Amino acid sequence: MRIGILGTGTVGATLGTKLVELGHDVKMGSRSATNEKAEDWAKKTSSTKASNGTFADAAAFGEIMFNCTLGQISLEALKMAGAQNLRGKVLIDVSNPLDFSKGMPPTLTVSNTDSVGEQIQRAFPDVKVVKSLNTISAPIMINPKLLQGDTDIFVCGNDSGAKAQVQRLLEQFGWKNIIDLDDISAARGTEMWLALWVRLMMKFQNPMFNIHIQKVN
Ligand SMILES: NC(=O)c1ccc[n+]([C@@H]2O[C@H](COP(=O)([O-])OP(=O)(O)OC[C@H]3O[C@@H](n4cnc5c(N)ncnc54)[C@H](OP(=O)(O)O)[C@@H]3O)[C@@H](O)[C@H]2O)c1
Repeated sequence: MRIGILGTGTVGATLGTKLVELGHDVKMGSRSATNEKAEDWAKKTSSTKASNGTFADAAAFGEIMFNCTLGQISLEALKMAGAQNLRGKVLIDVSNPLDFSKGMPPTLTVSNTDSVGEQIQRAFPDVKVVKSLNTISAPIMINPKLLQGDTDIFVCGNDSGAKAQVQRLLEQFGWKNIIDLDDISAARGTEMWLALWVRLMMKFQNPMFNIHIQKVN
């Protein structure tokens, strides 16, 4: 598949490298066509399958897109990507609305009655937004086996075909326990989980953990 990665940070680079390893063609997008981090990533990946450009270049290129930008500016970044380039496509929203401007722990810029996932879906009604992977740190996203035992990942979104496509990608990353939380409003819960995630990370001084849901049958 051709995949557009919007974002040049740890998440964009980690997902991009794994997707190239899996045989996909990946273009990483940024505000600038010559972003240093994106150029370094494409060079280091040393594959004809890895390239970089603007947000709009990556969105035009991808059949599927990952939003790996900061949650509080994701709408701006997606506007730069261009509604016409995103139309009808699946967008996996990995962002979190974290505001670090007042230090640790960060606050959420949107919560409770709304989420970044929903904001994106409202702003781009033709895009099939699937929220996923935002509840764990980047190395675990592409390698859940780093954790011993069962561990869970969430998906939510309004389009069941899009969620099935995302589920197949997650399976390629090694995910087995994929919990479908239904429509995109469930993104509120997965984004608000970050309030607890950050406290756990501060307590453990380590971001390499995740949860597993146990139910009484
Ligand atoms: N780090 C993790 O392990 C992790 C785990 C789960 C979820 N997340 C979430 O994933 C997202 C990406 O995290 P990250 O640490 O990889 O990213 P990051 O380095 O903090 O930022 C990624 C992107 O944000 C863009 N950006 C920043 N300000 C902008 C603006 N004003 N307008 C447009 N674009 C702007 C940057 O564009 P340029 O390329 O042009 O500079 C960059 O591509 C975040 O929402 C984060 O909360 C992170």
